[in-house]
Amino acid sequence: MPAETAAPALPGAQPPGTFTPEQARQDIPILHRTVNGHPLVWLDNGATTQKPRQVIEALSAFYGAANSNIHRGAHTMAREATEMYEAGRAAVAAFLGAEAPESIVFVRGTTEAVNLVAQSWGRSNLGPGDDILVPVLEHHSNIVPWQMIAKETRARVVPIPLDADGQIDQKAYADLLSARTQLVAISQASNVLGTVPPVKEMTALAHRYGAKVLVDGAQAVAHFPVDVTDLGADFYAFSGHKLFAPTGIGALYAKPELLATMNPWQGGGNMIESVGFDRTTFAPPPHLLEAGTGHISGVVGLLAAINWLTSFDRNAIAAYEEALMTYAQQAMATVPGLDILGAAPDRIAVLTFTLAGHDPATIADWLDRDGIAIRAGHHCAQPALAHYGLEFAARASLALYNTSEEVDQLVASLRRLQQAG
Ligand code: ALA
Repeated sequence: MPAETAAPALPGAQPPGTFTPEQARQDIPILHRTVNGHPLVWLDNGATTQKPRQVIEALSAFYGAANSNIHRGAHTMAREATEMYEAGRAAVAAFLGAEAPESIVFVRGTTEAVNLVAQSWGRSNLGPGDDILVPVLEHHSNIVPWQMIAKETRARVVPIPLDADGQIDQKAYADLLSARTQLVAISQASNVLGTVPPVKEMTALAHRYGAKVLVDGAQAVAHFPVDVTDLGADFYAFSGHKLFAPTGIGALYAKPELLATMNPWQGGGNMIESVGFDRTTFAPPPHLLEAGTGHISGVVGLLAAINWLTSFDRNAIAAYEEALMTYAQQAMATVPGLDILGAAPDRIAVLTFTLAGHDPATIADWLDRDGIAIRAGHHCAQPALAHYGLEFAARASLALYNTSEEVDQLVASLRRLQQAG
């Protein structure tokens, strides 16, 4: 007889405590590996973040003792899995300051969330002559879905220009807003310039014209506390894997009154009330927008990640990252020929740069030999790079577990590259 294994306890939210990067590092096993004979320096957090053992253990516990589909099974484990899934929804709602768990739709990530809004809300609300305003600094995932639905509905995607520092030109934005504007789609933090625009003020201005506002929080949520109610956002999207959680899970927040008007965008199980060949009726939101079996273990991991992050003092994290960013900017500026893109006063710790005489792929390859991981390429933000006359750039993106010693290693390696010629 195998020993009976009880269901794992739901990870409970901890009261916020203190924060030091060393505390965070101790929890993250991968930060203790070596790469090419050097201790790993992970500076590719804009692409994905590393996972604390609390998240890894939650996934293992789920598959080891609690795996079941949700909702439709009339047995103990289905009920337990459902309870975990809905606890995840409640945790995301609390994390974002949402009105209720029912305002949260689980999705694969930010990209799927934006596509969902485009295909569901956009298809019903956009028409010929309508405008969708999108800042030039957006990630492709907050441009292309709008271009696709605009083509179908004969609406227009209108870029909001940037100034030389990589900030959204607020005067141009105010001038572009009109009665034609149906939607403003804007990142709370840019993945390539780090810019944190005044989203709350921009949202209030859009609302004066009756436009809705979608906020892409993919690069924001790991860095500072978010309150969708305070922002006034109509939609807010983020990806779990950029928040220390697994890949393939993310969330879309929508204001309850908007969610109530949205049509399904994918059909299948879980999203219906009854199906007949003569008539099919749908489940209420958020289930209406969650066709098929969800990423149940992903939600369990996301819940563990939120609990891990919020066990620290988040304002202390934001202050630490700001200081680390200033340190990195100053240290990198000492490397001959190095230019950092963007100079917005409000920004997250993203340092996209060029180094005279070296293409970004060569820089990334050189750093990798020293165990330092950065990203090189167009960063899925080609219009933002084009604003600086560039096709490609290198990017170091920092997180709460990075240290000034790691920044020093980056700078020393870049200096060696510059000296090697
Ligand atoms: N959006 C991710 C990045 O900026 C993949 O790297």
